[in-house]
Amino acid sequence: MSIPAFGLGTFRLKGQQVIDSVRTGLELGYRHIDTAQIYGNEAEVGTAIAASGVPRDELFLTTKIWTANLAGEQLLASLKDSLAKLRTEQVDLTLIHWPSPGDALPVSDYLGALAEAQRQGLTRLIGVSNFTIRHLREAIATVGAAAIATNQVEIHPFLQNRALVEFARSQGIHLTAYMPLAYGKVLHEPLLQRIAVAHDVSPAQVALAWLLQQGFAVIPSSTQRANLAANLAARDLRLSDAEMAEIAGLERGERLANPDFAPAWD
Ligand SMILES: NC(=O)c1ccc[n+]([C@@H]2O[C@H](COP(=O)([O-])OP(=O)(O)OC[C@H]3O[C@@H](n4cnc5c(N)ncnc54)[C@H](OP(=O)(O)O)[C@@H]3O)[C@@H](O)[C@H]2O)c1
Repeated sequence: MSIPAFGLGTFRLKGQQVIDSVRTGLELGYRHIDTAQIYGNEAEVGTAIAASGVPRDELFLTTKIWTANLAGEQLLASLKDSLAKLRTEQVDLTLIHWPSPGDALPVSDYLGALAEAQRQGLTRLIGVSNFTIRHLREAIATVGAAAIATNQVEIHPFLQNRALVEFARSQGIHLTAYMPLAYGKVLHEPLLQRIAVAHDVSPAQVALAWLLQQGFAVIPSSTQRANLAANLAARDLRLSDAEMAEIAGLERGERLANPDFAPAWD
C-alpha cells in the first residue's frame, strides 16, 4: 500500500480526546493515521485502533522519530517503543520528524539507521519531515530517492513551499501537506469562502481539495465528528483550473510551524 492521500492528524490531541478523534475517524472511513513520538499519544492511538476492530492490514499507520532519538541504536530502540505503544509489530511509515537540530548529526547517520529499521521489519516504508532541499539531497545520497516515501512538510494556501515542492517533484519524491488548514486560518479567507459558496461546501473542504488536486497527501486533524466527516468529503470536490490558480495567488510565506531548532528554510 502506498501512502493514502487522506489521513488523520493527531498533533496536540492527548488522552481521551485523541482516542475519541481516532475512533470517530475510523468509524467515518479514515484509514491513515499520523502520530509521532513527541505527540505523547501513541499509546492512546494504539488503544483507539485496537478498540475499533479495523483490521491492521486495512490501516496505514505513520509515526515520527523525535530529534532526541536520532542516534543509531537509540533510533531503533525508540521505534520499538513506539511499536509497543501502538500495539503493532510494524508501522507502515516512519519519518524523521525534523533534521538533527543544528545538523549536530549528519543526515547519513540517521537515514542509515532508519533504513536499518526498515531492513529489520520495524517499518514498511521510510521517509522524512521538515527536510529542506539540502537535507533532501543528503537523504537521497544516503538511501536513494526511491526509498524516500514522502517528505511531510507544511503546505497550505498561505505557505506553498514552491521551491521545495519543485525539487521534490524533480526527484520523484512524494509530499505530504501538514497543517493543510493552516490550523483553521483557511476558514476566514474570503477567496476560499467565495469558492466554497459556489460549490456549496466549506472553505476547509476547498483548501483540502486544492492540495489533493496537486497530488499531495493531506492529514488534517479535528476533534469534531462533523468536521472529520466534512474534511473527508473534500475528496469528492473538484476545483476548476481557474479556481486552482486563484488559490495559488494566496501565497504569503506564512509559516506556522517554526520552532527555534528548525533548519534554514528554502
Ligand atoms: N511533521 C510535522 O512537523 C508536523 C507539524 C504540524 C502538524 N503535523 C501533522 O499535521 C496534522 C494537521 O495539522 P494541525 O492539526 O496542526 O492543523 P490543521 O489540520 O491545519 O488544523 C486543525 C484545526 O482546524 C480545525 N478544523 C479541522 N477541520 C475543520 C473544519 N472542517 N471546519 C472548521 N475547523 C476545522 C480543528 O479544530 P476542531 O478540532 O474544532 O475541528 C483544529 O483547530 C497534525 O495533526 C499532525 O499530525 C505534522
